Amino acid sequence: MTPTDLPEWHVLAQRRRALEQIHIADLFDDDPQRTERFSFEAASLSVDLSRNRIDSGTLRALVALARASNLEKQRDDLLAGAVVNATEARPAWHTALRSTPTDPFVDPAWGARLQAERERFLQFAEQLRAGHVAGATGLALETVVCIGIGGSDLGPRLVTEALGPARRPCVRFAANLDPADLDAALAEANPHTTLLLAISKSFSTLETVENLKAALRWLKQRAPELDPKSHLAAVTSQPDRATALGIDPARVFTFPEWVGGRYSLWSACGLGIAIAHGRKAFGELLAGAAALDAHFAKAPLESNLPVLLGMLGVWYVNFWGIKTRAVVPYSQALQRLPAYLQQLEMESLGKRVDRAGAPLSIDSAPVVWGEIGSNAQHSVFQFLHQGTGWVPLDIVMIADHEGGDQHRTQLLNEFALAQADALAWGDRIVGDEPQPSHRAAPGNRPSTLVRLARLDARSVGALLAMYEHRTFVQSVVWNVNAFDQWGVEIGKQLLARRTRAAGA
Ligand code: F6P
Repeated sequence: MTPTDLPEWHVLAQRRRALEQIHIADLFDDDPQRTERFSFEAASLSVDLSRNRIDSGTLRALVALARASNLEKQRDDLLAGAVVNATEARPAWHTALRSTPTDPFVDPAWGARLQAERERFLQFAEQLRAGHVAGATGLALETVVCIGIGGSDLGPRLVTEALGPARRPCVRFAANLDPADLDAALAEANPHTTLLLAISKSFSTLETVENLKAALRWLKQRAPELDPKSHLAAVTSQPDRATALGIDPARVFTFPEWVGGRYSLWSACGLGIAIAHGRKAFGELLAGAAALDAHFAKAPLESNLPVLLGMLGVWYVNFWGIKTRAVVPYSQALQRLPAYLQQLEMESLGKRVDRAGAPLSIDSAPVVWGEIGSNAQHSVFQFLHQGTGWVPLDIVMIADHEGGDQHRTQLLNEFALAQADALAWGDRIVGDEPQPSHRAAPGNRPSTLVRLARLDARSVGALLAMYEHRTFVQSVVWNVNAFDQWGVEIGKQLLARRTRAAGA
């Protein structure tokens, strides 16, 4: 299917021409109810689309394009565990990872297996948190160093940080091959009370394998008398590779091969989250994601958050030619969200051929970037307000910063709203007198407000599930496979060739 052949595509091209000269400020002037009309909520999230370059007709046309792209059937296939990843002949059933025994989408056999493995790793996390897991010298393990990269790092690291400081065990992360990363994670760690947790779906990613070897050398050098077996654990879909390294099978936690790396934090890959914050918080994380899954499965497309956000992305990429998008979380705890979304969206949608292997005739993934607010106001907002082009933003806010310094968190949220208004209205919002050109801010620069009710595990789970499904919606319209990543293989092959040539 070529989306540009669809009549719905041509309706949107007409909408773009119709909106070309209309300013966001005019859209508000013409519709006093605009904010209410373009605000939607689900699963402790609320989304305000009103500061976008859309009108009701455009939103209807975008939903019509989603429907014409057979989104509903493909969504149901995804949620039912159908083989949606054709090049690897696999499902992409990450939603099953957050299923409950009564979940209607997941067959009982798979549900039972996934819940049993979840129970295994959560029990291990709780034993560590209770100080009941000892190292070789009988001392309780108090520091956990998670060694993984890409999807085996970004999601777990984001959520572990987002849910606040962890008491003992202290959970640290190391991903980069640059020794400085693992050195920092091992700094001041006591080898007698440290657990090395290797997280790797393939258990063959060079960075992770080399960092694990380096961490074992660190253990040997610092405590030669220690049997490393008591200081090792692993998460992988290749358990034999982990046990072949001498890791105790009782400390090898697995997940199915049909879980994509960038969709895997809900599996045992999230063990670091459970160690840092406990099984209750991990359960809340899964419940928040499951609530968003149910919304995605059942809500009419017209009020379906992942559909609306995904189609808005299609609108800007394919009808306005905007090849970038930014995410600005006004929350220090969500500082890793842009990096996480870069992998989720650019590794899922950064494709040049469709699912039949034919070259795309339209643009697919935009460049995703971001910075936390309010810091971004002192680095990139000059560009966003007065640059020659415009960049659609997701501004992510926490409605209720429970417990924090209310004065500064209220100012933080006021700042977020002020920036969104300034981008939309430009200097029209501060008065009617014309500004000299070097001061003029044209406005008409779109942003979407994504509000979490509060910064807790349930809201974070819903937020990340929403972005997972937003990504899937776009893959359906662009007719690309969101779940493979062949582009990363060429680098691995060249590295192998170079190291063979160098005899490394
Ligand atoms: O970037 C390629 C990739 O395969 C990601 O999809 C994955 O999350 C990462 O490398 C790490 O892979 P693994 O979990 O197998 O070590």
